[in-house]
Amino acid sequence: MLYEIQTYGKDVLRTKTEKILQIDDNLREIVANMFETMYAAEGIGLAAPQVDNSIRLFVIDLAPIDEEEGRRVFVNPKILEFGDTQDEYEEGCLSIPTIKEIVTRPTSIRITYQDMYGKHYDEEIDGFLARVIQHEYDHLEKTLFIDHLSSLKKSLIKKTLKKIASGEIEVEASENFEL
Ligand code: NI
Repeated sequence: MLYEIQTYGKDVLRTKTEKILQIDDNLREIVANMFETMYAAEGIGLAAPQVDNSIRLFVIDLAPIDEEEGRRVFVNPKILEFGDTQDEYEEGCLSIPTIKEIVTRPTSIRITYQDMYGKHYDEEIDGFLARVIQHEYDHLEKTLFIDHLSSLKKSLIKKTLKKIASGEIEVEASENFEL
């Protein structure tokens, strides 16, 4: 089942997310639907608030850009540490169609999370996956990638954001591997 992707201006993107207490078939169905929704939009990452669900869950599949990577599910993730080095990358977001901006982020993280069967993990992750995780994790913290931009950059995209919020610009599948 495809979910509707919530775009900039929707309250759910700025709503506190709840810890997931029941890791059951219902959750696994949500995960399956999120992957389906993400693939339909040609995204590589999707967080639950983006599909109107305020729970601590996101999914990632970097396979389109990295053959070694496949589906990953993060339930109740917690980033414990950020590495010292940072890099820049032009990010996009399925919830903020047409806007792409350079965001500076740490290149490595240490994260704990559960999978969709409740198993616990504690991993150090670097490279592009670390960036995508931070972008999706931000969604669980009510943060969008545009929040990381300078006030000058923010003022330059203000008009476009208004158009997204008013529904003039909608989500379309692009081949830009949005997060
Ligand atoms: Ni996003």
